[in-house]
Amino acid sequence: MGSPALSVLLFLAAAACHHAYAFRDGLLDNGNFEMAPSASSLNGSMVLKPHAIPKWQISGFVEYIKAGQKQGDMLLVVPEGYAAVRLGNEASIKQAINVTKGMYYSLTFSAARTCAQEERVNVSVAPDFGVLPIQTLYSSNGWDSYAWAFKTSYTVAEILIHNPGVEEDPACGPLIDSIAIRALYPPRPTNKNLLKNGDFEEGAYIFPNTSWGVLIPPNIEDKNSPLPAWMVESLKAVKYIDSSHFSVPQGQRAIELVGGKESAIAQVARTTVGKTYQLTFAVGDASNACEGSMIVEAFAGRDTLKVPYESKGKGGYKRAVLGFVATTARTRIMFLSTYYHMRTDDYASLCGPVVDDVKLLSIRKPRRLA
Ligand SMILES: *[C@@H]1O[C@H](CO)[C@@H](O)[C@H](O)[C@H]1NC(C)=O
Ligand SMILES: *[C@@H]1O[C@H](CO)[C@@H](O)[C@H](O)[C@H]1NC(C)=O
Ligand SMILES: *[C@@H]1O[C@H](CO)[C@@H](O)[C@H](O)[C@H]1NC(C)=O
Ligand SMILES: *[C@@H]1O[C@H](CO)[C@@H](O)[C@H](O)[C@H]1NC(C)=O
Repeated sequence: MGSPALSVLLFLAAAACHHAYAFRDGLLDNGNFEMAPSASSLNGSMVLKPHAIPKWQISGFVEYIKAGQKQGDMLLVVPEGYAAVRLGNEASIKQAINVTKGMYYSLTFSAARTCAQEERVNVSVAPDFGVLPIQTLYSSNGWDSYAWAFKTSYTVAEILIHNPGVEEDPACGPLIDSIAIRALYPPRPTNKNLLKNGDFEEGAYIFPNTSWGVLIPPNIEDKNSPLPAWMVESLKAVKYIDSSHFSVPQGQRAIELVGGKESAIAQVARTTVGKTYQLTFAVGDASNACEGSMIVEAFAGRDTLKVPYESKGKGGYKRAVLGFVATTARTRIMFLSTYYHMRTDDYASLCGPVVDDVKLLSIRKPRRLA
């Protein structure tokens, strides 16, 4: 066992001890809004006072929504428990938590659109913020979970979720539920893999009770990624899935490429010009009724490999290898799905091939026997 691994372990242990007093991974306090405002601070579903929802501070037109409540003809579904909030035009909710300065954290929350319009959620922990589009439906019950990560500059992080929208109908605006946090430990390359987090084991919090994974939104930079070391490029999200609800080729976590050519994950690796490398990875399906002829396209700099995979929607995977000679000191490794796919059990949810266990190694010339 090499000492780098040991020092990483020690670092992790130290970091874990250091922030253990502050919080644990999981739901924020009243992160699922099950603790209700008192009857006197509600008018119908409208929350009247800034501190009415326990542990939260609100601003603007915020509604406290109970499962089964109706909006017009639509029955509102709540993903977890029996309550959620709706953020009207320019409304926001916030909560401050103790964190360790300089560490990375990932927030996961569930959101649903209520009107046909394009809706967005602005998540921020000053000075960082991310405006996440929630207009594309990926799961058929209307709710999706989203991840967003930040690096702390202070010992207190004020988590603010804001609806920047201005709709004509004030009852429009996203529903928000189940807000959780997880500390992230930036992975490093090892002598077994030049890529970091190639197995996707390090990443956003996934609710043990939700069976729809977590969307990693587009335009995510690698430095603040809820999928540490990876960037999400293009227009659409990729889905982070867990082995408790999906079929995963290796370990507990993997990526499902749900956005066709419009979503890609990428990482830039350090390479040496003229050296030969091997990129190995697994391509499969998540066992989520996502059937059909799939193709995953892998890129290593200018070299590409198209990996066909016939999915019966019941799980399984195959391995693929892309060999290449580096032409630059940094080689961009990228994966995307050639086609769009829909689940055959609802014909409404986007799905796609799974990528996992990505390794990049340089191939040494065979050593001469002594
Ligand atoms: C409650 O809402 C109704 C209808 O929107 C309004 O007429 C009434 O004044 C509100 N009451 C309070 C206490 O805000
Ligand atoms: C944050 O830490 C301070 C002590 O440093 C403590 O008084 C406060 O209750 C903590 N806040 C939360 C939300 O845990
Ligand atoms: C998102 O929130 C941040 C921090 O509150 C703010 O600076 C930024 O302008 C907001 N962006 C949008 C589009 O609302
Ligand atoms: C998961 O669901 C069970 C049963 O519905 C519930 O008791 C539990 O609190 C839920 N856990 C989380 C983390 O939501």
